[in-house]
Amino acid sequence: MTTQIMTGSLPDTSPPPPVGLLAELTHRCPLRCPYCSNPLALAEQAAELTTADWARVFQEAADLGVLQLHLSGGEPAARHDLVALVRHAAQAGLYTNLITSGVMLDAARITELAEAGLDHVQLSVQDSEPNSADRIAGFPGGHARKLAFARLVTSAGLPFTLNAVVHRQNLDRLDEIVALALELGAKRLEVAHVQYYGWALLNRDHLLPTRAQLDTASDLVAHAQTLHRGRLTIDYVVPDYYATEPKPCMGGWGRQVMVVNPAGRVLPCHAAESLPGLVFDTVRDHSLAHIWTYSEAFLAYRGVAWMRGACQGCPKAEQDWGGCRCQAFALTGDANVTDPACRLSPDHHLLDVAVQRATAPIGNFTYRERAGTKKARG
Ligand code: FES
Repeated sequence: MTTQIMTGSLPDTSPPPPVGLLAELTHRCPLRCPYCSNPLALAEQAAELTTADWARVFQEAADLGVLQLHLSGGEPAARHDLVALVRHAAQAGLYTNLITSGVMLDAARITELAEAGLDHVQLSVQDSEPNSADRIAGFPGGHARKLAFARLVTSAGLPFTLNAVVHRQNLDRLDEIVALALELGAKRLEVAHVQYYGWALLNRDHLLPTRAQLDTASDLVAHAQTLHRGRLTIDYVVPDYYATEPKPCMGGWGRQVMVVNPAGRVLPCHAAESLPGLVFDTVRDHSLAHIWTYSEAFLAYRGVAWMRGACQGCPKAEQDWGGCRCQAFALTGDANVTDPACRLSPDHHLLDVAVQRATAPIGNFTYRERAGTKKARG
């Protein structure tokens, strides 16, 4: 598959600053989720930015106008300097959100993180049922550790969000996942259907829900949102494969978020490296402010000038910003075309084809593994 990147013209003025910075501190992670948002080619530890590099990046982000810092991975707790990184971010004035699997943090480290200025924790769970959760994560005993971690976070006085990525193999337990969020004292539950790039695309036949599952889940979420209002906020990210309109991915390409990967390359979205032909600047060579305004990768799909086909002149172009470039590429081999999630796309039928194909039995995931390690299946 090939694509031709259409590069936008240099801006006359700087765009409004990004709201958020997603810092992928490392790709190391003890979990092996088959829908991991990390790229198929995982960064080596030796390539990771240093503590001083990240501290500079956080200060540059704050100077640029970024408000929220999401510390992610891989598993960010795999970095021994996580407490120091949180302290640097807090000193820069950023709101810090730790996105974690929870399996590498004990009570002492949570206390240190809170004292360093951590504002919020986002904990992922793979299911409500322990055996299924551990099988999906490819990490025996992980679910029990996550529950213990959630209780420690609450004890430390940190607000937390429970994040549940849902798909065909856990969607029938969504009711129990909501109950788990309530039991653990989460203030927010994010129910996010898998987005199909990278590892998830490899496992799509095992993960895509049926229409019946989706309809039941959507009704359940609507009911739970009303029932638990004031106690638990439930966000719902719907799957594109049943959509008729595309989502404004990342709030629009190069509009709201910057992603810095472990090696320091700055991306408009976490999957952008799946698009061939884009050149990503690195924080080792340029400031975040320079990259936000001038990076070829950020200019490529910022705004509406790059649009063609059904997107060109569409009255919703400045609402959905052309949908998801990575999905357009994953499904068609061309990142410049209308996102097939749009019913006006000539490629819309590809979503139906994928749904019809998705009849693989439970299990048989291709787990996330570093290249060269043995592929495990479960
Ligand atoms: Fe890259 Fe949607 S994930 S644009």
